[in-house]
Amino acid sequence: MFRRVVLGLIFLIVVAVGVSVAIAWRSEIEPRDTAEPLEFDPALVEKGAALAAVGNCIACHTVPGQKAFAGGLALPTPFGTIYSTNITPDPETGIGLWTEEAFQRAMREGVDREGNHLYPAFPYDHYTRVTEEDNRALYAFLMTREPVRYTAPENELPFPISFRPILAGWKILFLDVGAFEPDPDRSEEWNRGAYLAEGLGHCGSCHTARNRFGALSGHWNGGEAEGWAAFAINEASPAPIPWDRESLHAYLRNGWHPHHGVSRGPMAEVTANLGTLPEADVRAIATYVASVMGEPTAERRSRADQILQDLEGDAAEQAASTDVQAVATSSDSLGASIYRSACATCHESGRPQPFGGLNLFMSAAVNAPNPQNLINLTLYGLPAADGVRSAVMPGFGAVMSDEELLALFNYIRDRFTDQPAWTDLPERLRATRSGEYHVRILPSDGIERGPSNIGASDDGDNTQN
Ligand code: HEC
Ligand code: HEC
Ligand code: HEC
Repeated sequence: MFRRVVLGLIFLIVVAVGVSVAIAWRSEIEPRDTAEPLEFDPALVEKGAALAAVGNCIACHTVPGQKAFAGGLALPTPFGTIYSTNITPDPETGIGLWTEEAFQRAMREGVDREGNHLYPAFPYDHYTRVTEEDNRALYAFLMTREPVRYTAPENELPFPISFRPILAGWKILFLDVGAFEPDPDRSEEWNRGAYLAEGLGHCGSCHTARNRFGALSGHWNGGEAEGWAAFAINEASPAPIPWDRESLHAYLRNGWHPHHGVSRGPMAEVTANLGTLPEADVRAIATYVASVMGEPTAERRSRADQILQDLEGDAAEQAASTDVQAVATSSDSLGASIYRSACATCHESGRPQPFGGLNLFMSAAVNAPNPQNLINLTLYGLPAADGVRSAVMPGFGAVMSDEELLALFNYIRDRFTDQPAWTDLPERLRATRSGEYHVRILPSDGIERGPSNIGASDDGDNTQN
């Protein structure tokens, strides 16, 4: 009896392994038979360049300061570190020998030319929505970049996650392969925006929560990226002044908005890239995002109106007086006196965006359920961008103790929002300081497209690329 059970179990295991290998297996696509550079219609290459900007390919496939698209950027994930690969047309270390068919399959199914499954750190769960035609243009763009000979470090992943065939199981559960389907009941602009945002723009890869298998869970309900909170951009948006089509358009195009501040962290790279797109495409994305957010509730609207009205009153008062409010009084709590002496000078100066600090009544970072971005900003500040004028904020990590920071954060939350106190502050502050969260510090965007430059160059020339 016992032997039969064991044999039966062994049989089942063999069948299960066989089935999964069969499902997991993807054939190799033959390499191109020559390493000669390919030539394409320049118009196709140019179209590919704009699409690559929407896809933000350069941000993940370039180590800052190194050769573009050569890969090697470390992407920390909850499972370990994954390195982006070389997607220049170098025949040995890049994708120089890939045919268009192999590239199309990688974008649609997350499989490399040899047939290996790729990790979804490469956001093919979104890129699968891209049309064949657009992938052709992307291929033309990449295959005409400067070839760079460079091999990225090996991924640092524990077994069994390091074993690529298990990704086949992940894909069965979580990957929905297939191009974007337009909604015939919506406008052409809305559909264009949806196509760009849900596909190449992969907004959801940062803005959507993930389950413990690293798969998307929900839609734009708030996620995390590179140690930053990527706030909800659906009806749960934490922005105190509700976003609308106009403000989204300005923010995505210019990297800042007077009611929302500058784009920061990994979002700075996104807006820097979107700023290079044709105007109509940015407008389409804004139209779509505004429709996902929907109309704000009457309650949210009236709180926003109240904030704006109060701030206008303050501004008038400030203009009339020469008082500087950065003086602590003895009745202040610890948090209040730190805020007054270290923050108010910039954040209540009335100096306009993007170079002044936003009044914190309008700050999503302060109003959000997740305090991570307030922690990041206060510890590390906003570094100056290279060679261009940018919104700069000093970091206070070295001069403030944890006790002072916690008092400050609690005070800010209490004074500037009607939200409940954060409960995870001490733990987040600890994990941020210890480096566990791998916070990537980037200059803000909203720089070369600052107020004086807007309208001056509508082709969106962007030195950050
Ligand atoms: C969020 C980061 C990220 C973005 C954005 C991104 N990639 Fe990647 N990509 C990766 C990572 C990480 C890998 C390696 C995955 C692996 O090792 O399984 C990868 C792998 C690839 C591969 C497979 C290369 C090979 O040698 O196997 C191709 C092709 C590729 N990316 C193209 C693109 C294109 C085109 C874009 C822009 C439309 C893009 N990627 C945007 C992270 C990214
Ligand atoms: C690489 C990750 C990443 C991608 C991709 C990304 N975002 Fe973001 N986004 C963020 C982060 C992080 C923030 C918060 C930054 C901050 O504090 O300013 C943010 C902020 C925003 C905000 C401001 C939210 C608020 O209320 O202040 C909007 C709007 C936004 N993103 C829209 C988009 C859209 C639309 C796309 C796709 C075209 C997109 N994002 C793609 C990471 C990302
Ligand atoms: C030298 C001026 C300066 C000082 C001092 C300063 N900031 Fe800032 N801060 C800025 C600028 C500029 C920005 C970017 C514009 C923006 O988005 O507000 C910024 C952004 C922020 C934001 C993001 C607001 C948003 O858009 O949602 C927060 C939160 C913040 N600062 C908190 C603080 C805190 C807390 C302190 C005090 C410990 C502080 N700042 C001190 C200049 C300053």
